[in-house]
Amino acid sequence: MDKRKVILDCDPGHDDAFAIMLAVQHLDVLGVTTVGGNSPLANVTRNALKVLEVIGHADDVPVYAGHSCPMVAPLVTAPMFHGESGLDGPVVPEPTHVAQAEHAVDFICRTVMEQDDLTLIATGPLTNIAAAINREPRIVERVREVCIMGGSVTYGNWTPTAEFNIYVDPEAAARVFESGLHVKMCGLNLTRQAAFDEGTVERFRSLGTRAGDFAADLTEFFIGAGRSVNDTHVGCMHDACAVAWLVDPTLIRAVPMHIDVELAGTLTRGMTVCDYRHLCGPDPAVDLYRDPLHAPRGKRPNAEAALELDHDRYVDLVCSTLEAYD
Ligand code: RIB
Ligand code: CA
Repeated sequence: MDKRKVILDCDPGHDDAFAIMLAVQHLDVLGVTTVGGNSPLANVTRNALKVLEVIGHADDVPVYAGHSCPMVAPLVTAPMFHGESGLDGPVVPEPTHVAQAEHAVDFICRTVMEQDDLTLIATGPLTNIAAAINREPRIVERVREVCIMGGSVTYGNWTPTAEFNIYVDPEAAARVFESGLHVKMCGLNLTRQAAFDEGTVERFRSLGTRAGDFAADLTEFFIGAGRSVNDTHVGCMHDACAVAWLVDPTLIRAVPMHIDVELAGTLTRGMTVCDYRHLCGPDPAVDLYRDPLHAPRGKRPNAEAALELDHDRYVDLVCSTLEAYD
């Protein structure tokens, strides 16, 4: 069966690196585009090239640099989790490959118009995706769907209500959710289930591949960062979930949902406001799935929200992917 054609827009980032490795192995990645987020644009672009060189695909998967800062807000980065380089931990030589001269947004627009049945995957702030929609509105009807790591049905991470990717560029996120594109949202409520621990690190190292060792180093650093910042003892490779969902849809249980992005809230700017009233029974606190046919109606869904991950099969998929890179 032909592999699904995708463009992966990302801000590597440790978990973006896992997203790249999963996508390149299982999907037809027409290009990797980069956006300022975890680290400034120059860093995330260099890191995308590094990851592709580690897995031996820098010659066949081109990288395009995109927007360096959000549409309206100033750039916020996350060096406390990803280090100053954006990919601290693994020792990887400087890339010998360079990014394409074409801007990421031009590449996205051109490719969407040239290719049928294309899927967009976004694992960073949605600046490039929103800019592409503004540049070429026909994207909305031509793109099969956009699968993102971002937002949350429940709690945030950068603030109590906002997840980092949406918080960095909420105007871009609002543009994407209200565009008419079908959005598959892998929010924090889902990706916090994708925890890797020291046992996972050992499992990666036991694979005996360069990609396995690279993944072990990435995870070890990420666990350490989580321990020092939040006193946690696992590392959640959030972004890989968005790719895994497309690779094996049975890994994730999702529900239709209307999702808006808060732009003006003092305490809630960047929050993905999820309307799941249509899924709630008489007592919304009781059960998300009870009696959905008679639940109060919510807004017409514009997205799918991922709710449950099959953790063990997800880790197995990651391991088999790393093993496949010789
Ligand atoms: O909140 C997690 C998201 O923010 C991930 O995409 C991570 O890479 C950071 O960009
Ligand atoms: Ca990311």
